[in-house]
Amino acid sequence: MNELIQMKEVAVLAAKKAGKYAFERIDAIIEVNYKSGANNLVTDVDRKCEQMILNVIKSEFPSHSILAEETGEHSPGGEVTWVVDPLDGTTNYAHGFPVFCVSIGIMVGDVVKIGVVYDASRNELFTAIKGQGAFLNDQTIRVSNTELVKNALLATGFPYDQEGKILNIDYFKIVLNQAQAVRRAGSAAIDLCYVACGRFDGFWEFGLSPWDTAAGHLIVGEAGGKVSAVGQGEYDIFKKEITATNGRIHDELLSYFRDFNKSKKWSN
Ligand code: IPD
Ligand code: CA
Ligand code: CA
Repeated sequence: MNELIQMKEVAVLAAKKAGKYAFERIDAIIEVNYKSGANNLVTDVDRKCEQMILNVIKSEFPSHSILAEETGEHSPGGEVTWVVDPLDGTTNYAHGFPVFCVSIGIMVGDVVKIGVVYDASRNELFTAIKGQGAFLNDQTIRVSNTELVKNALLATGFPYDQEGKILNIDYFKIVLNQAQAVRRAGSAAIDLCYVACGRFDGFWEFGLSPWDTAAGHLIVGEAGGKVSAVGQGEYDIFKKEITATNGRIHDELLSYFRDFNKSKKWSN
């Protein structure tokens, strides 16, 4: 079997195992702790899910590197790196709000080649292998055809840090005045997958980590969408910010951010 397909299958196995476990435990969380501040939570279920995923990866691919949200780097520096968010949407999860998922991206060198996101609440599995399209439960998915922001349903998220939060409140206000509506569901990986399958027309966010976007940005690209930074630049998973759209509204959306930044310079 082709090695990428084999890795994707292991990622799916790990994501489903952890996702189903999290789903079963949603009303039985034992511990909620704070990481960098009062908004950044971690539960015993996040940790358990990460352990389950790491065990699967290590038993199938013992030489691969792993970058995982809760335990950091394992055997760094290898050619293949698994980028793992064991539970994306922890704040939702801690409140029993069923928008959370497992997200696993696999990099070969610097390039994410595989993306797997599993939403156990809806039993939705999003997958992509670079160059081979994107899928939701084995059906091909495509981004929406929406041409204009005024007809678009968009999504964003607010980072945990105060500075990032305030910046995005400004962006949120601007876009809210232009778009049909803007949602904030609380799982960046699900937001990206919803752009990929056309439920959202676009998404932007600041203050993200590689495990939030590694899988989802590939899935958007493979579904025909466009991904960049929020500013002008290219996106990469270590950049912390992302704009992902159906491609058609991308430039228009970025132009609102640009205009806002220009007007801010004038008023300073
Ligand atoms: C968070 C979610 C949320 C986003 C935060 C992320 P976590 O991940 O993706 O939507 O707004 O920036 O950190 O902490 O639940 O894994
Ligand atoms: Ca996350
Ligand atoms: Ca997480």
